[in-house]
Amino acid sequence: MARKTKKIARPAPRRKAAPLAKPGELLTLLDFLRYAVSRFNEAELVFAHGTTDPVSEAAFLVSEALHLAPDQFETFAQARVSKAEAAKLLHLIEQRVRTRKPVAYLVNKIYMRGLPFYVDERVIVPRSFIGELLDSHFSGESEMPLIDDPGSVGRVLDLCTGSGCLAILAAQTFFNATLDAVDLSKDALAVAATNVADYGLGDRIALHKGDLFAPLGNERYDLIISNPPYVDAEGMASLPPECRHEPKLAFDGGTDGIAIVRRIVKEAARHLTPNGGLLCEVGRCREAVEDAFPSLPLLWLDTEESEGEVFWVGAQDLV
Ligand SMILES: C[S@@+](CC[C@H](N)C(=O)[O-])C[C@H]1O[C@@H](n2cnc3c(N)ncnc32)[C@H](O)[C@@H]1O
Repeated sequence: MARKTKKIARPAPRRKAAPLAKPGELLTLLDFLRYAVSRFNEAELVFAHGTTDPVSEAAFLVSEALHLAPDQFETFAQARVSKAEAAKLLHLIEQRVRTRKPVAYLVNKIYMRGLPFYVDERVIVPRSFIGELLDSHFSGESEMPLIDDPGSVGRVLDLCTGSGCLAILAAQTFFNATLDAVDLSKDALAVAATNVADYGLGDRIALHKGDLFAPLGNERYDLIISNPPYVDAEGMASLPPECRHEPKLAFDGGTDGIAIVRRIVKEAARHLTPNGGLLCEVGRCREAVEDAFPSLPLLWLDTEESEGEVFWVGAQDLV
């Protein structure tokens, strides 16, 4: 009698990685785009740093490496690259896969609302929804304005400024305003200073090092914007490798994620003009914020890619 063999569950065989492309095998920009996407998919990368999918990350990499504006990719998609350019592209693609650094860090640039910003690992890669909300709810063209006349805004504060991207975007929206921008990180402020200088805004944006409102004395503002750290302890423990290249200080929101948000909400009234307001991003912490401030009438604002991650509250409701 044949002995019954016990079935042993075997791990699925590992798929062999495709061999890397050799210089000369890929010819056009489109070839490199397709190859990069295949490599990114195979390596199961995470995309959350100014691009949200492998195709746009690859297009960004190829365009930046070849000194093309993002909207020029299509025009040159069928154009061939030189040998030197091919070597550069292959190197960048492998760096993206091997190091898991977002492309923004590899090329030291990211676009936000169509504007380029210098970035390196001293700052989080800008991706705040507040940029879009400044256009949709605060600019002269907005259909649902939260401030009637952007030209009447005189003073704006950007708390937790990082690269300075939101202060710079706000300076464009509130074209008559002077702005203060604060960060605890000296390194982040050095990057912000580069961006402020690149946009020639040194006479309108003052950078301050310190803990939230501490460096501002009794100053009051028509508008406070903030994209503070808001990742809770569980989220911090499971950050993807890409985010581990970014400063921990930019994410860490304490056990429940709202340690910094809580302080901003509590102190904001003391720094707002009577008709002013606070625009604050909190990621997935909406419930925690509503539990912490049950009587505050928070207006949750959506964007194309977010729902209930940013709130607006008027100064008069904060007192
Ligand atoms: C999520 S990042 C936002 C950066 C930038 N505003 C953006 O949207 O890309 C948060 C920033 O807050 C800064 N930060 C953390 N704790 C702070 C504190 N207590 N006071 C001031 N800035 C702080 C970090 O250094 C980091 O640059």
